[in-house]
Amino acid sequence: MLTPRRPDIAFQQGVTPILWSKDREFAQYLNGVSVIITPVEHLLNNVANEIRAQHCDGNPALKEELELFIRQESNHTLYHNRFNKLLLDAGYEIKPVIAAVTGELKALRDKKSLAFCAAYCAGFENTATFVAKYVYEQCDQYFEGAEPSGANLWLWHISEEFEHRTSCHEAFNAVSGSYFLRLAGFFYSFWHINYCFWRGASVLLKKDRAAMAPSRRWASRLHQARNMTRQLAWTLPRMLPLLSPGFDPGKMPVPARIQAALDFFKTTDPINEPFTAVYRFVPESFPHAPIRQK
Ligand SMILES: [Fe+2]
Ligand SMILES: [Fe+2]
Repeated sequence: MLTPRRPDIAFQQGVTPILWSKDREFAQYLNGVSVIITPVEHLLNNVANEIRAQHCDGNPALKEELELFIRQESNHTLYHNRFNKLLLDAGYEIKPVIAAVTGELKALRDKKSLAFCAAYCAGFENTATFVAKYVYEQCDQYFEGAEPSGANLWLWHISEEFEHRTSCHEAFNAVSGSYFLRLAGFFYSFWHINYCFWRGASVLLKKDRAAMAPSRRWASRLHQARNMTRQLAWTLPRMLPLLSPGFDPGKMPVPARIQAALDFFKTTDPINEPFTAVYRFVPESFPHAPIRQK
């Protein structure tokens, strides 16, 4: 059963830094994702809502799951809109890229079948599941000494992405279930959404780099390329099971640290540090090591 959480993560103009991570390129890449994710989540909810209303007869469990999925995604959008306001107020011109992506996703929804749109959503959510594992197992260096609000926005969001990893996959199965359509939706969403994320991040980094010396500008580009290569090198080989006709995200166990995060963000108590500082990463290959380390 999914839990829609509303953790105590607030953003304040002039107080919450845009560069919440010490790694500018990591922070601005995820800030760019924050810009793009709101229209993407609108599409996810729109598709999930139609499947919930028209394709869940005889499947009350899926109907309830999609209701909770929509509430989780709506919460994500609410918090990201608040964060994105900081970007707008700081002079980043994000409105054109939001409008462009919104138009592309609207065209997709209007012109393609519900089954293809569901495959697109399932493909995106499947990718997010593996990115969640990457963030929780490989990214502590980026969260070290990070400002808590910006860091926890992502640590909360991505933990719920892992939690609802089966929702869109099962929604797609309720509409179609075709293996080849699922793969088509996956490949298209992987290309399109990553292209959108890159465009969102580019708007932010372009403004930052305009104030840099040429040598620093190239160092920034190189560092961003290294960050992206690192993420793809870790995630892509682990995503290969997606290509199997029998792929079932429900068979992926919840890693202990993601489960701890899901519990952590359930409370509405004040949060004063990034979750990664509260629960250090312990490789699951050492199951007897203590999970919680201050
Ligand atoms: Fe989300
Ligand atoms: Fe999601």
